[in-house]
Amino acid sequence: MAALSLYLLLTWIFLLSLFCTRFAEVLCHVDESSALMEFKRSFRINTTDRRCVYPKVHSWSLDGSGDCCSWDGVECDEVTGRVIALDLSSNCLSGTMSPNTTLFRLVHVESLNLAFNSFNFSSIPYGFGNLSKLQYLNLSSSDFSGEIPRDISQLSKLVSLDLSPFSYETLRMPNMGGFVHNLTKLKELDLSLVSLSSPFPPMLANFSSLTLLKLASCGLSGNFPVSIFQLPNLEVLSVANNSNLSGFFPKPHWGSPLKSLDLYQTNFSGEIPTSIGNLSLLNELAAWGCYFSGSLPSSMGNLSHLTELYLDGNNLQGQIPVSFANLAQLSVLLLSYNNLSGDSLEWMVNLTKLTSLSISGNRLSGGFPSSFENLKQLTILDVSHNDLYGDILGALRNLKNLIVLYLNSLSLNGILNINDLFTLKNLKVLDLSNNNISFTKSFISATTLKLTNLKLDSCNLTEFPQFIGYSNKLRELSLQHNRIQGIIPRLTWNNSKESLLYIDLSNNLLSGFEENQTHLPLPNLNYLDISSNLLETTLPTPPPLVMLYNISNNFLSGEVPTSICEARSLTVLDLSNNALNGTLPPCLGSIGPLILLNLARNKFDGMIPHGYPNGCALRMIDLRENQLSGNVPRSLGNCGMLEYLNLGDNQINDTFPFWLSELTYLKVIGLRSNNFHGPIESSLSEFNFTSLHILDISNNNFNGEFPSNLLKSCHAMKIMVGQDKLAYLDIFEFLPNVSFNISMNSSHTYAMKLMNKGTKREYAKIPDVLMAIDLSNNKFEGFIPKLIGDLESLRMLNLSNNLLIGGIPSSLANLAVLEALDLSRNNLVGEIPQQLARLTFLSFFDVSHNRLSGPIPRGMQFDTFGSSSFVMNNGLCGSPFLNKCTNGENAPPPPSYFKVDNEEECLFNLDGRIVLVVAGVGFLVGVVIENLIIDEKSVWFLCCSKKMAKGWKKVRKALANKKICN
Ligand SMILES: *[C@@H]1O[C@H](CO)[C@@H](O)[C@H](O)[C@H]1NC(C)=O
Ligand SMILES: *[C@@H]1O[C@H](CO)[C@@H](O)[C@H](O)[C@H]1NC(C)=O
Ligand SMILES: *[C@@H]1O[C@H](CO)[C@@H](O)[C@H](O)[C@H]1NC(C)=O
Ligand SMILES: *[C@@H]1O[C@H](CO)[C@@H](O)[C@H](O)[C@H]1NC(C)=O
Repeated sequence: MAALSLYLLLTWIFLLSLFCTRFAEVLCHVDESSALMEFKRSFRINTTDRRCVYPKVHSWSLDGSGDCCSWDGVECDEVTGRVIALDLSSNCLSGTMSPNTTLFRLVHVESLNLAFNSFNFSSIPYGFGNLSKLQYLNLSSSDFSGEIPRDISQLSKLVSLDLSPFSYETLRMPNMGGFVHNLTKLKELDLSLVSLSSPFPPMLANFSSLTLLKLASCGLSGNFPVSIFQLPNLEVLSVANNSNLSGFFPKPHWGSPLKSLDLYQTNFSGEIPTSIGNLSLLNELAAWGCYFSGSLPSSMGNLSHLTELYLDGNNLQGQIPVSFANLAQLSVLLLSYNNLSGDSLEWMVNLTKLTSLSISGNRLSGGFPSSFENLKQLTILDVSHNDLYGDILGALRNLKNLIVLYLNSLSLNGILNINDLFTLKNLKVLDLSNNNISFTKSFISATTLKLTNLKLDSCNLTEFPQFIGYSNKLRELSLQHNRIQGIIPRLTWNNSKESLLYIDLSNNLLSGFEENQTHLPLPNLNYLDISSNLLETTLPTPPPLVMLYNISNNFLSGEVPTSICEARSLTVLDLSNNALNGTLPPCLGSIGPLILLNLARNKFDGMIPHGYPNGCALRMIDLRENQLSGNVPRSLGNCGMLEYLNLGDNQINDTFPFWLSELTYLKVIGLRSNNFHGPIESSLSEFNFTSLHILDISNNNFNGEFPSNLLKSCHAMKIMVGQDKLAYLDIFEFLPNVSFNISMNSSHTYAMKLMNKGTKREYAKIPDVLMAIDLSNNKFEGFIPKLIGDLESLRMLNLSNNLLIGGIPSSLANLAVLEALDLSRNNLVGEIPQQLARLTFLSFFDVSHNRLSGPIPRGMQFDTFGSSSFVMNNGLCGSPFLNKCTNGENAPPPPSYFKVDNEEECLFNLDGRIVLVVAGVGFLVGVVIENLIIDEKSVWFLCCSKKMAKGWKKVRKALANKKICN
């Protein structure tokens, strides 16, 4: 017995010693330690990189035993001593990964993690394929770029692969289907942000081991295979931010034990099926910005683990099911911008863990829900743009954690007790715009408010709310569109001088500043809009960092000081519609970032500012209606982005600025009513006014030949564009975003005054389709060229009061959308081309004061022009004159057939008449039918689509009865 025991003991000791020896022997192999050491040396350590946590490689050293198995981040096989795992994530490595990196000598490695380093956008080297034992590979967020090498796809033992980069469009994988083909053991695959640019690979539906699949922001398209939702182990699925990826939720059956589902900003649509209630493990559902419709199924109340639900920006309708009361774990619930309705949200009383709730932009109605009282954890609440009414802070008084509160565009009214506001001690962002409210006076002297952003637009306010002065952290203050009168009290910014970035007081009745202090002490302000008030001061000094400065539409007087140019960030400067005078500081031209300069409608005199530097960013210059003189500064040619230049109604004395032709984007040239002179047409001049929409050089002293070459170069006028959307010529500019929560953009439509249909008209906005040429009141000579008929999209043409001779070219009849044609006061001879009767939009026509003769065209629009359009000619005859045409000059019958090229049917309403234009094969019949009743509301220019066939049949029937057509 003892012998046996002794034997066993000895055996045990032997085995133990054997094991210990082996264990002691297991030092790492020299080839591997030197490979690791070389790898370490090939990089710098950058501890300022934000991904850096700790440089494990610091501990690596070949001194002493040099045993790499004991190094931080390295793991060896206990038996063989081979390196099997290397974890250098967030290791602060910085530098290029060499194509022959020594890493590839670690051929036994099974797990390799290099995530969150910075490899300087070098390519992922070819060679990972040699590490055939790899099961876990993570190269994410490490600044690799280029195409992912194919040999990674041979690693058939891979269980987890994460290649998602830090930023979009740095890595590409052109054939994902082929790539993953052999990686069937994958449990985790993350290729988010890798540019795949392909349809969703259907074979992934066979990868039954997948527990995590992340393909967000990959440029995926096509249809999402619904069978992915049946993968038996899938817990995390993200295909978010693939806007061309379509898909539906499975109706009958979800097989996957999903915990997290991200589909936001995809093309997913259809209803949310009742079966979603079976996803009992679901924690997070993010499907905002998709196209889901129908109502929210009551079964969603079964998702008892749900903590975050994002369904904002879909087309959901109906009521929010009362069963949502069971979602007691919810901390984020975002349902904004749907079509949800209903008038009771009392069930919300249970959602006591909510921290963010947004139900804005729906049709929720009724009194302000008292259930909100219970949501004590709320930090963000957005109920704006609904039909809720009642007490202003109502149930919110006790929500002490609120930081962001949007109550704008509700139907709130009454008086807001400032003390209630002061109880919300953490409130930083408050928007009460578009309500009908006023504020109690408050006499608190301490600066107790933490408010940073306050918007009270369109609140019917008549005075500055005093409490503004009690905040000392205000960044954004917007009080536009109220009826606030009187002076702007200094208190408005007294305590927030340093923090204020944005002030909008536009559209009020403000008349000045406290103590006439026009120097605003706001060192960090970026945005200042006090336009459309009654300010009767001198120009307030622009704050030094201001980007947008708009003080237009006031009664400012005095000069613009040179110090304005010290605002070196000015991007938008609008001083228009005031009574400012004096000369303009020449330095205005040299403010680098300036995009919009509007000084129109003041009393400025002297020269136009000059010295526009190379790379000048200006897109709009409006100086019209001043008393500026001198010439057009040549350096404006440096403003290669210029779209709008209006110098009209000044006293500029110059020849035509030919060099404007270098400005490729120029759409509007306004030079009217100045002292421009000299010829424009010359055999030497080559023009390139490709983008021009509007050319107004009327009321000057231009002379010489008709400027044919200039018009010939106006290519935009030769292209007929559809009028689907009524767009306007404008500048829309995102100003650099300076602050969280403040979106600073600036949208300005171009305005101008044009002669239209015989009268001056101010266009506050210029429709994109408005193409106009006004050469009137000059001394142009010679013939009207035939090529004018090429400017097919022209709507207004005014050549009146020049010295033009010859006939009216019949090619004018090609200008199919022409609305106004003025050729009066020239020396034109011959007949009015009968083809002009074809111009169905023509509502103004004037050829008076010429030497025309022959029959006046009849029919169509010509039946509407009075005799003033034709008076003072040599021998015009026929209606509207009483003299009949004689000697075979009888006017031809109203034209009924016109040959045109398009073969579509059109129906439109013009000045109250129905004009029917129907094309046969190569023919178009135009008839004006008066008093024809059509029960549909005729929309202007409803026409030109085959879709109108139905309406057309109705009209044809009416026509048949009236026997107007044959
Ligand atoms: C370190 O990282 C920071 C932040 O990414 C970067 O700006 C800096 O250039 C890096 N330094 C080196 C030496 O690469
Ligand atoms: C990698 O290749 C380059 C040349 O392509 C060579 O200079 C360098 O020494 C090689 N590095 C290693 C670690 O083999
Ligand atoms: C998949 O693996 C098989 C066998 O190892 C190989 O023949 C084939 O080329 C691989 N396919 C791809 C796409 O890598
Ligand atoms: C929600 O809370 C109310 C009152 O606090 C309670 O009556 C109701 O049973 C709760 N509902 C659920 C589903 O917990």
